[in-house]
Amino acid sequence: MGMSALQTSDPEIWSFLQEETERQTASIELIASENYTSPAVLEALGSIFTNKYAEGLPGKRYYGGNQVVDKLESTCMQRALDAFHLNGEEWGCNVQPYSGSVANMAVYLGLLKPHDRIMGLDLPSGGHLSHGYMTVNRRISGASVYYESIPYKVDANGFLEYDKIEELALTVKPRLIICGGSAYSRDWDYKRFRVIANKCGALLMADIAHISGFVATGLLANPFEVCDVVTTTTHKTLRGPRSAIIFFRKQYSQQINDAVFPGLQGGPHMNQIAAVAVQLKEVMTPEYKQYMKQVHENAKVLAECLKLHGFTIVTGGTDNHLFLVDIRSKGINGSLGERILEHVGISVNKNTIPGDSSALVPSGIRIGTPAITTKGYTPEHMPNLAKLINDAIDIAIDICKKCNIVKLKEFTEFLTSPSEYRSRLETLRKNVYEFGKIHKN
Ligand SMILES: Cc1ncc(COP(=O)(O)O)c(C=O)c1O
Repeated sequence: MGMSALQTSDPEIWSFLQEETERQTASIELIASENYTSPAVLEALGSIFTNKYAEGLPGKRYYGGNQVVDKLESTCMQRALDAFHLNGEEWGCNVQPYSGSVANMAVYLGLLKPHDRIMGLDLPSGGHLSHGYMTVNRRISGASVYYESIPYKVDANGFLEYDKIEELALTVKPRLIICGGSAYSRDWDYKRFRVIANKCGALLMADIAHISGFVATGLLANPFEVCDVVTTTTHKTLRGPRSAIIFFRKQYSQQINDAVFPGLQGGPHMNQIAAVAVQLKEVMTPEYKQYMKQVHENAKVLAECLKLHGFTIVTGGTDNHLFLVDIRSKGINGSLGERILEHVGISVNKNTIPGDSSALVPSGIRIGTPAITTKGYTPEHMPNLAKLINDAIDIAIDICKKCNIVKLKEFTEFLTSPSEYRSRLETLRKNVYEFGKIHKN
């Protein structure tokens, strides 16, 4: 085969692409927010639609030459409504947000005034930065700089406490209540949130970035029945390109559309919109629904298998594609857990668990199954995967105990220097790679 255009013009970047392809092929991807998108989506994403400027909305643009991209964006919008079974009389959507955080900021910009109060799930409880995360000393996300963020939390076992959320909302009287999170393994009672929002005069938004694949396929509760606005990313369970969609009840059309452009963004990324459209078509197939069922089955079985190895699973299991493993009981923290797993070729992320006081040294790891399910793994593979994870954590425990290591920096240096653990680590890494290569993308 001849050399590709990229290989010829920029061998350095081309070589990074080869390395990353190898990493994605051979390693085991358990990061709950990642997935492997399809060749068709990649083709649309890497297409000449990237050359086009199209500020505005279909039929109302600020540039010429939009004959084709107007059709493209309208198709994408229609597919978005169809994929989530929405009636176009009641619901509109905007497919231009560059990504999830910007989509959320656009909702706030459109519906709130500066310093209005917002109430979302706290980040250490499984919420997302863009729902207004702040610490005692610092307003960390833009949402907490421009709005007054008063978050709700999960209880000691990791569950939402609806009575407490109601109590807080009635005291705080927020303008906006946000449901949804990045590390919450249970379904959401949107109807209860609606009752709470009505009692305190708040608007209700659901950010279904993580679980939109389940919502589209009817496998989890439907926020559209009661929410005013729903946002989602398109690259997690939905398995599309990195992008986002805002769905809104028709009375908010102008506020939201104006907030996306010209409020926050400039020209839409038409190549992203093309790729989102391609993926939305796939989301409406029976195969995709089957995929989402398998994602959940894999998560449920993997959590059970890890319990058999003595791990504690926050909330005891999962209703969706992810769960949190409390590794405190094993005697190491989430940062060391994430590092040892990465060292042997398993990608997860450290995560706070209920009761953690520091987001910097969290006690848990978050595990998700969308990516491995796309690769073709099924529940039968989960006992082996749980064993590989357990073997890695066991080595970390041994190292920490015998060598008296507690700090991540020391631990990382230890992993890469010669030691009595080298052959155990090498064998495990080989086993992980063998397991990772069973299914190629
Ligand atoms: C619930 C939730 N909302 C929003 C986002 C932000 O998405 P992005 O990283 O595309 O800005 C994320 C990302 O992880 C998320 O989990």
